[in-house]
Amino acid sequence: MATAPFFSLPHSIKHLSDSGALSSVPPHYACRDPDAPSDVDPTLEGQIPTIDLSVLTEGDPARRSEMVRQLGLACEEWGFFVVVNHGVPETVREAMFAAAQGFFDLEEEEKAEHSGKHVMDPIRYGTSFNTKVEDVGYWRDYLKMVVHPAFHSPAKPLGFGEVLGQYAACTRVVGMELLRGIWESLELDEGYMNNALGLDACFQVCTVNLYPPCPQPELATGLPPHSDHGLLTLLRQNGVDGLQVKHGSKWVHVKPPPNSFLVNTGDHMEIVTNGRYKSVLHRAVINGRSTRMSIATVVAPSPDTVVEPVAQLVSSERPAMYRGVRYREYLEHQQGNKLWEKSALDLLRFHCLVINSNKRTNSGCVLSILLQVATLFADHSIVQNIQSFVLVYNSNNQSIHLYILICSMTEQNSKSFTVPSHSHRSSIYFITTFATLLVLVLLQIQVLTSSVSTCSLSWPFFDRALHRDESSIHTELGRARSMLRDSVTFLPLKDLRFAKEPMSGHTWFMSSMNDTFEGDETRHLYFPSEASKGRLLCLSAPDTSDGTKNSYALAWPEALPHDATLFPGLTFVSDTYYDYGNLWHGTSAILPFVSWHQRKECAVPDRWVLFHWGEPRTSMGAWVHNLTRAAIGEVRIEDLRGHGGAGPACFEKAAVFRHNEGAMKKQRRREVYDMMRCRARASCGVARAIMDPKAIRMTLLLRLGSRSFKNESTVIRIFETECAKVDGCVVKVAWGNNMTFCDQVKLMSETDILVSPHGCQLTNLFLMDKNSSVMEFYPKGWQELAGVGQYIYRWMANWAGMQHKGSWRDPHGEECPHTDKLACFLFYKDAQIGHDEIHFAEWAAKVLGEVKEMKSSSGSRHTDVAGSSNPCPCDR
Ligand code: OGA
Ligand code: NI
Repeated sequence: MATAPFFSLPHSIKHLSDSGALSSVPPHYACRDPDAPSDVDPTLEGQIPTIDLSVLTEGDPARRSEMVRQLGLACEEWGFFVVVNHGVPETVREAMFAAAQGFFDLEEEEKAEHSGKHVMDPIRYGTSFNTKVEDVGYWRDYLKMVVHPAFHSPAKPLGFGEVLGQYAACTRVVGMELLRGIWESLELDEGYMNNALGLDACFQVCTVNLYPPCPQPELATGLPPHSDHGLLTLLRQNGVDGLQVKHGSKWVHVKPPPNSFLVNTGDHMEIVTNGRYKSVLHRAVINGRSTRMSIATVVAPSPDTVVEPVAQLVSSERPAMYRGVRYREYLEHQQGNKLWEKSALDLLRFHCLVINSNKRTNSGCVLSILLQVATLFADHSIVQNIQSFVLVYNSNNQSIHLYILICSMTEQNSKSFTVPSHSHRSSIYFITTFATLLVLVLLQIQVLTSSVSTCSLSWPFFDRALHRDESSIHTELGRARSMLRDSVTFLPLKDLRFAKEPMSGHTWFMSSMNDTFEGDETRHLYFPSEASKGRLLCLSAPDTSDGTKNSYALAWPEALPHDATLFPGLTFVSDTYYDYGNLWHGTSAILPFVSWHQRKECAVPDRWVLFHWGEPRTSMGAWVHNLTRAAIGEVRIEDLRGHGGAGPACFEKAAVFRHNEGAMKKQRRREVYDMMRCRARASCGVARAIMDPKAIRMTLLLRLGSRSFKNESTVIRIFETECAKVDGCVVKVAWGNNMTFCDQVKLMSETDILVSPHGCQLTNLFLMDKNSSVMEFYPKGWQELAGVGQYIYRWMANWAGMQHKGSWRDPHGEECPHTDKLACFLFYKDAQIGHDEIHFAEWAAKVLGEVKEMKSSSGSRHTDVAGSSNPCPCDR
């Protein structure tokens, strides 16, 4: 039970520390014995495993699988590792720490708006861990925010939410990438795990910890030894050390390399892997000089998922070690109690015992088995704890083995979480069922051994039905079909309950349907299928401006809704959050179809049906259309409103994608980009010229109007000057506005370094040879206002196998005259970009140097030559 704290709580440790009046800690915080011998082993520090995320995401298969192996070892042996080359920009980290400092610097009353609330509140500010139940205090203030599946952020200080949003999105990507590697290290299927843990709606919480300087750091502690509740925790700190992790019986003081994440496994990793990867104990120590700040991001299963050991890691040698529990309940328990070691997880631990009774099948022994079972069941507490039982009959030596798995939990266990317990009545029921089963099994064995092979049982009910006269059966069938027709139920295509998460999980498009996972494809729906029980997809979508007025239904082909039109063949149904006119967005929406097309024997759809926010669309932008045609084949977009009758359209076969490429596995995405590049080049007749392997082709792909360079000729001159210094370098200058699709494909096939302002024409980057380079430019104001969308070309470069060589953000330029953020974003979006002669020259020289180096080390080898000599996937 919660006990009231016996001391008066400070507002915050910061307040206490800032007052400067303390020369010793208040007794309530003295929880350590200063004379205890040190339990820290300094020799272990150098052994902490390091994981290079870039190898996991873009390494060649051999390096990647080695890194996956190392990741598995790190989880198994340490539960802790350092992640480098994670791709999260330093600027995002810096902005996050500055924003967090801004929050703690608010007036106490302002912060208090988020304090003293329930442990499950999505935003919580406080001190120590849980002062309602603790009898010692920890030298720590914290701000916890649930950032996914729903995003929460305090309103103050200004701009906090945006920064947090970026930080959360970036760390979630890193977390998911690591999880992918971890599942792989255990040979678990990623799609299956994502589904089992509800990772689309994963729970993510960011905790900012503030540890002010402490007058007696040897007496107090920042956080006591504990494990975290989630799957993984990603921690960053402000440059002041203080995290210690337990390894074996010793503690290791962690001094992270710059720009790295410290990652530890959490309790749910231990549960789901059935103890293969255990959560690691860690603690935070404090110091007397500087303020330490850390940001811990926990990535966890979705709150409503009941997490239990995954079946693949449970066997008779290693029975399930933990009871399943709903994540939300676990969290509430863990957060609502004292923080102490693995006390929350311990409550879920089973202590198991397998009983094996080996008996021969003669009647005397059957009796003895029954007796044995009855003795077991006479003890109510054992019945309560029986996990499962299996009867195995060995026909060779005619023996029966009865395995009973008995698992016990302490009484406290069952109280802390709601454990379904067996009543007395259910144990009687259990015994009866068991005995009946046993008798049936024995009967069966007898039947088998005496070789009775025919069964002459007669069922009077069937007899009667079969002799009914045929015409009445037809009438009834007709009636049944008509009832089926009438019972087809249309639901709104766009479900506003999911308005906040249009891109995850169920999405707002056909929200009652679950996606199918197929290997590393993106999730999709296919009709008719086993899951649809053979029913076809029908759409009724007359409204082009409000998706909630459009609807969908499933219907059996024999009982399509009245006045439906059946479209034969294969239909691709696409819904995108974005729009098909935009190069990046359109590509992102069609990429999963390209992948599916290739996997399904290059099946070309007979038609496309396009939706944007649940509203029908009848065209793609020319570029997207051309790319789709090159990659998949002729694109016929069906206008459902014009198909004749006003009734619904039903499809003989339909593949529905409502997630963009972001939902696909990285490796697969890269293969698909390779295929699109190959097919685009082939369809434009771009054959690769035999060229000097040392040539370096730099292309300035420029814009007119918004985001053009203010002083274009100077920018061109700078790059030309640097290029001229490098042997074999040539510069081309092109403007994206007046080029055809094939012009662009050709230009990109002749580009090693793409120099271009941020904007959708940069989508062309995937059309370069693999490993080519990108240099990106932004006008003033983007960093602050553009959100994560500004990183799309970094992502794309990574996904398509290119090298993003950084971005230049114009520090100068006209100030936004508006106060409204959106107005300012639009203002900056249309602004022009200046230049920095010295920086551009140095940057160009550096990139040229790197490309030259890479070219000379790889010689003249080119692996992805397009054209007639090398067919692309699906070439006919
Ligand atoms: C945590 C945690 C450690 C640190 O927030 O769960 O363990 O170094 N933090 O701040
Ligand atoms: Ni922790």
